[in-house]
Amino acid sequence: MNTAIVYSSITGNTKRIAESLKLSLSGSVIFHVDDAPVPENFDLIILGYWVDRGTSDKKMTEYMKRLNQCTIFLFGTMGADPEGEYAKGVKTAVERNLSGCRLMSHIQCRGEMQRSTLDRFVKVLEKNPEDELAVRKVNSYHASYGHPDDEDIKTIVDSAKKIVYELN
Ligand SMILES: Cc1cc2nc3c(=O)[nH]c(=O)nc-3n(C[C@H](O)[C@H](O)[C@H](O)COP(=O)(O)O)c2cc1C
Repeated sequence: MNTAIVYSSITGNTKRIAESLKLSLSGSVIFHVDDAPVPENFDLIILGYWVDRGTSDKKMTEYMKRLNQCTIFLFGTMGADPEGEYAKGVKTAVERNLSGCRLMSHIQCRGEMQRSTLDRFVKVLEKNPEDELAVRKVNSYHASYGHPDDEDIKTIVDSAKKIVYELN
């Protein structure tokens, strides 16, 4: 089975998961989205994105839109709670970028946010403690700290292994 792992990442969270997948899936090959391969050569393409303003980051979104008739396993990292309503909306928005493909599974987990984001929203709260967006962002910063952790990575790796097993 020819498996490609294609990821996008600016602060390293999504890259860490992609690299763990590479180590766990024998024979797989890994690419940064800037060097993404011709999709036709692969039986399974694993795509890793990070969430930017409610959907997949721009680079991964553009790559997803180029795919057609591919078998896909999707994973994403985000600051917000992956079990919440917001994450459901993100999932829907991300999946809209894939047309004519077979989506096997889609998993999201938290990914640690940048310290600069915390500092920015703490300043907002100093001026206006009621600011709902700032409260949400500060909470997300603390909840996402240390993620993806070993458990997050294991969940995604195990799920990908299961898909590979089913497709074989
Ligand atoms: C510019 C920017 C925008 C972001 N937008 C969101 C967002 O809309 N929702 C969210 O839950 N997290 C958001 N995040 C948090 C990232 O999705 C999260 O930290 C992710 O794990 C980063 O992945 P990476 O380390 O692979 O780059 C944003 C982060 C940045 C830097």
